[in-house]
Amino acid sequence: MLNLVLFGPPGAGKGTQSQKLIEKYGLIHLSTGDLLRGEIAQGTTLGLEAKKLMDDGKLVPDEVVIGMISNKLDANKEAKGFIFDGFPRTVAQAEALDQLLTSKSESISGMIALEVSDGELETRLLLRGKDSGRPDDANPEVIRKRIVEYNTKTAPVADFYKKQNKFTSINGIGTIDEIFGAIVNVIAAY
Ligand code: AP5
Repeated sequence: MLNLVLFGPPGAGKGTQSQKLIEKYGLIHLSTGDLLRGEIAQGTTLGLEAKKLMDDGKLVPDEVVIGMISNKLDANKEAKGFIFDGFPRTVAQAEALDQLLTSKSESISGMIALEVSDGELETRLLLRGKDSGRPDDANPEVIRKRIVEYNTKTAPVADFYKKQNKFTSINGIGTIDEIFGAIVNVIAAY
């Protein structure tokens, strides 16, 4: 199986590249952000709780997203592999993901991090905010909070995969196809 963690700050291009990767490799895309927005759209209790945190640029509790990922892994037993997009976002989530995969005799193939400067991230998200309908893209203060959450809670997840020799960083600035080509080259070396 090819199990890829696509990593990077808000607006780095994880979702954009995931769409191209699922086409090329036939993987299942697991985006915790999309799953949470699905819960919000359905008006579930989980969604209502998550919305308050997401609109404020904060992470939702680990147990919530770990539970969602666990359910999706169980529901896709025949998958060729998974792209984890926006997950794991804390070291506790990374440890839980390792345990979930180990229990299925699987493991992460690698983490690919998209490197993009804070200024470029803000520009991309503000531009998208105009028509994405995502409240967390609409205002610069919330975008900056999301970047701070990333730097404090999520960036350490890279060390978790570096220790396992599963970390590769690539330049996330360039055309979508250039970045996709760089990702494909990394995967070819797994
Ligand atoms: P989530 O939905 O994961 O959002 P995010 O990480 O903030 O990432 P984005 O979707 O905004 O960006 P992206 O990197 O996917 O970039 P994209 O391809 O869209 O999370 C939202 C919230 O949910 C979190 O803040 C948190 O509250 C909660 N949450 C989610 N997962 C969680 C977890 N595991 N634990 C706890 N809480 C969790 O591209 C962005 C824009 O840039 C687009 O407009 C795109 O067209 C453009 N773009 C893409 N590539 C390029 C390029 N090469 N050049 C120029 N523009 C580009």
